[in-house]
Amino acid sequence: MLARGSDGTTTNRRAPAVVATTLAVMVELPRRVRIYEVGPRDGLQNEARPIPTATKRRFIEALLAAGLREIEATSFVSPRAIPQLADADELLPSLPRPEGVRYPVLVPNLRGLERAAAVGATAIAVFTAASDAFTRHNIGMSVAESLDAFRPVIHAARDRGWWTRGYVSTAFGCPYSGRVKPARVVEVAAALLELGVDEVCLGDTIGVGVPSQVRELTGMALAGGIPLGRLAYHFHDTRGTALANVVAGLEDGVSCFDASTGGTGGCPYAPGAAGNLATEDLVYLLDGLGVEHGVDLPKLLEAARFVASALGRPLASKVGQAGGWDPVSGGSVGTGSSPAS
Ligand code: COA
Ligand code: ZN
Repeated sequence: MLARGSDGTTTNRRAPAVVATTLAVMVELPRRVRIYEVGPRDGLQNEARPIPTATKRRFIEALLAAGLREIEATSFVSPRAIPQLADADELLPSLPRPEGVRYPVLVPNLRGLERAAAVGATAIAVFTAASDAFTRHNIGMSVAESLDAFRPVIHAARDRGWWTRGYVSTAFGCPYSGRVKPARVVEVAAALLELGVDEVCLGDTIGVGVPSQVRELTGMALAGGIPLGRLAYHFHDTRGTALANVVAGLEDGVSCFDASTGGTGGCPYAPGAAGNLATEDLVYLLDGLGVEHGVDLPKLLEAARFVASALGRPLASKVGQAGGWDPVSGGSVGTGSSPAS
């Protein structure tokens, strides 16, 4: 809000968010983070043109070759809701299964869980939000109804020994109902943990959050009993704040971040939800910060180029467009040389 001073000048009346103390305090970042790749699911679920199952498989193989170990492969949702991922039953069993790789799949109900089980799933993600309006558009339920619906799904998954994640979408803002209170996000995340999920992931579905809000949310989550090791963030770069938000999360010790190779994606039920944070942009940042992640940037760029060409458009990521710079050595990246991490 602008206020006019006695000299006629205007000033921003809103108090600044907490002033960064980085000049005085050395913040210790996590030594290593998990990169949770969502490209094959979140990235491809909103594409207008159909993508052949074999192309999806080749994309996932390229992600594996780059070193990614957690790849959200597809969704076992209603094919009417997400026709782009209607081939989940063929795709999942066709994927290579190297040691240590996890392919979580999105599941909205017991029907989805049974479909996933029939083709070898061992990890699932359920998904609700911090706002009723979005949840109704996305899965046709209120948040409270979705939590009730997930209870038997999570229990069935846990009985089978599967890994489980719960998403809380619209963690900073809802495309239908506006600003979301962090206390509400923490409440929903805590309810998911109570139901038994291994990890909660807070999603900035429409890419509206800024670092001060991330800090506030992380602080409230920790104060609300959500352990750091079970907390992940999912940022969209819609307004260019995703990497800054990652740094805010890292500075508070968060060590799992979602990203989509090629920067593809968005939810068809969230208008304006363009652009997941691109995995290659995240990897570049982490390399420069000296945070380990296990991903090879040149190979990742190959996977990004592959998916961009399959979708018939240029790479959305900053690193993909700029190319050629290793943040550690200053050498060339994307020409087959290994990053220094
Ligand atoms: N797998 C396949 N089909 C399913 C299914 C599943 N897991 N769950 C429901 N269906 C089918 C039903 O059989 C029904 O089919 P029909 O229309 O041919 O009879 C149809 O989907 C609708 O099912 P219904 O139980 O009436 O639920 P709904 O219409 O309220 O839809 C969801 C609820 C959750 C199934 C649906 O909204 C959905 O799948 N949403 C996913 C949204 C999503 O993935 N968003 C992106 C993630 S951010
Ligand atoms: Zn996303």
